[in-house]
Amino acid sequence: QEFNTIEDVKTLVGTYLDFPSEGIVFRDIFPIFRNPSALDCLLNTLVKEALDFAKKASSTKIDVVVGLDARGFLFGPTLALKLNAKFVPVRKAGKLPGVTIKHSYQKEYGSDELEIQADAILKGEKVLIVDDLLATGGTCKAAEALVEKLGATVVLNQFVIELVDLKGRDILSAPIYSAIKY
Ligand code: PRP
Ligand code: ADE
Repeated sequence: QEFNTIEDVKTLVGTYLDFPSEGIVFRDIFPIFRNPSALDCLLNTLVKEALDFAKKASSTKIDVVVGLDARGFLFGPTLALKLNAKFVPVRKAGKLPGVTIKHSYQKEYGSDELEIQADAILKGEKVLIVDDLLATGGTCKAAEALVEKLGATVVLNQFVIELVDLKGRDILSAPIYSAIKY
């Protein structure tokens, strides 16, 4: 089977009730990675949207792709290569060496702290944040705060999946593109 549209790709997303805790409807992206045609379609869609967006926003060059720990790391480096940008990880606290800055946040099923290396992004750089999924928006909002603390600008937040009912969109500062919505 060939995967030509994002609607085709959506058919592969897995759904698990009460994971990782009761009441959560967990959306699993990993089946997409088992199918090269689907993965190719998804990655091409993200690249195209990023390029189209940058072009519309007065021909902004995206300097940095920031991927969020852990599933954002599956997309970040590929996107960065295709956009000729650098890749920078935002990690759960305690994993990155050197001088870092941290930000605490709430997410759909708990709270956590994110961290970035202070020399990874320069003042004035234009940043695209990528993650697999937007739920309450807490994770991405913390990442936006870290990028801004370093004097850079988030120009676009990209997600493979958006859980629309959780309204994460409403708490984010930068524009949002999500490929698949529930
Ligand atoms: C998940 C997901 C997003 C975040 C979204 O990551 O990959 O990063 O939650 O939730 P939010 O919009 O409510 O903040 P998780 O923290 O479970 O970590 P993982 O990627 O290491 O599994
Ligand atoms: N991260 C936060 N909420 C999630 C959900 N419902 N499914 C998958 N990942 C998530």
